[in-house]
Amino acid sequence: MGKDVIIACDFASKADCLNFLDKFTGKKPFVKIGMELFYAEGPEIVKELKNRGHKIFLDLKLHDIPNTVKKSMSVLSRLDVDMTNLHAAGTISMMEAAIEGLTREDGSRPLLIAVTQLTSTDQERMENDLLIKEPIDKVVMHYASNAAKAGLDGVVCSPLEAGKVHETCGKNFLTVTPGVRFADGDIGDQKRVMTPAEAKKIGSDYIVVGRPITAAADPIAAYERCVAEFVD
Ligand code: C5P
Repeated sequence: MGKDVIIACDFASKADCLNFLDKFTGKKPFVKIGMELFYAEGPEIVKELKNRGHKIFLDLKLHDIPNTVKKSMSVLSRLDVDMTNLHAAGTISMMEAAIEGLTREDGSRPLLIAVTQLTSTDQERMENDLLIKEPIDKVVMHYASNAAKAGLDGVVCSPLEAGKVHETCGKNFLTVTPGVRFADGDIGDQKRVMTPAEAKKIGSDYIVVGRPITAAADPIAAYERCVAEFVD
């Protein structure tokens, strides 16, 4: 899979999600299904979007003991998504177990990427709440290296970290980057943002874009603008 724009389908129900995707006549964007939609609608929403021809990033961020993650990943592998994820904080053995669970009998599996530190966690919270005293950049790169060691395909990270992740883990290690905004757009609650063009320049492999597309007056035009800036 090459560079692509992934639309974050952060909707509360299947009806809202399908209503949005129905606008894309003839096009099948790569979509991200997160916890909100998955917990509301269950595996059926994944099957429905798969049947409609969309590639799917199932963003459930698993984090548990290795055996539980392995078994859960094995269930998720049957949904035939294209990409899924977990928390690198679960340790290398948890990530290795996840890969084992996700790998089907024929050896195929969805791409597996890791969350390093959530972007809602800053240095202060990490030090005070998690008692991790190292600089956050170092922690993110260490978690990314752990993910690479465990055999994962990449990480979710800020576009600002994508270059450094590639330097640390190699250029083929995928960087999937949310926090993307148009130069003339609203940044909302995101703090450290980049435009699709900047994300391309810095080497992001996939950008995850939610509200700049889902809340746009013309979502198709907004999606096409992302593709034009990031992919073409
Ligand atoms: O609407 P917006 O473009 O901010 O959506 C970004 C999407 O990426 C949301 O689904 C959000 O949960 C997700 N995300 C993020 N930052 C991370 C990881 C995921 O914004 N570090």
